Amino acid sequence: MARVICVAQQKGGAGKTTLVVQLATAFAEAGRRVAMVDTDPQASLAGWAALRERAAGRVAELPLSAVGGWRLGVELERVRRAADLVLVDTPPHAEAEARTAVREADLVLVPSQPSPLDLWASRGTLELAAREGRAVRLLLNRVPARGRSIAEAEAAMAEAGMAALESRLGNRQAFVRAIARGLGVVESEPRSRAAAESRALAAEIAALLG
Ligand SMILES: Nc1ncnc2c1ncn2[C@@H]1O[C@H](COP(=O)(O)OP(=O)(O)OP(=O)(O)O)[C@@H](O)[C@H]1O
Ligand SMILES: [Mg+2]
Repeated sequence: MARVICVAQQKGGAGKTTLVVQLATAFAEAGRRVAMVDTDPQASLAGWAALRERAAGRVAELPLSAVGGWRLGVELERVRRAADLVLVDTPPHAEAEARTAVREADLVLVPSQPSPLDLWASRGTLELAAREGRAVRLLLNRVPARGRSIAEAEAAMAEAGMAALESRLGNRQAFVRAIARGLGVVESEPRSRAAAESRALAAEIAALLG
């Protein structure tokens, strides 16, 4: 039975869909059977998957279903059987939907930019996962190449008792370019730093799931 990873964050634009895309393609590259479920009515992940169809034949098949949060349980029953990992994308500002997805997850990932405002905004989702008894990790996303902000973010996370992954994703246009082509960065720019970050992240998560 597949393990379910839910990417959730109440704040909009934190990188949920980017994270699902980069993880799905990195896990596929590592030989895992991956399925994706889009529960966001904005359907950004579904849009990426539609673009991806044009690249068919060259890239790993990543089945996607788009469902309303209330149908997620039934859908997961179905897709779990044919996958090793299921990645669930969730909408922002939708507590009820996020809760449904979080409940189904073996691991909840919460992307956040490394700034105090973004980290404070992550608390709600981290607490939701804790209330539901789910394993949860913060992922620092769009980390700038240099600067003090990362040390400050680490201090803020430690003070708030937030568990973060060691892996991070930098603020890199390669992630954006890949998505614009219906690809993950491991496919579009396999030798880039962005691709190395995606692979390291997938490996850390695989170890965490055991
Ligand atoms: N690591 C990154 N480097 C550069 N740009 C990024 C990175 N992560 C995300 N972005 C950009 O930030 C914007 C928001 O990302 P994304 O859509 O993945 O966030 P989201 O949390 O899914 O948003 P929403 O809450 O609307 O669903 C997009 O323009 C995306 O390309
Ligand atoms: Mg999104």
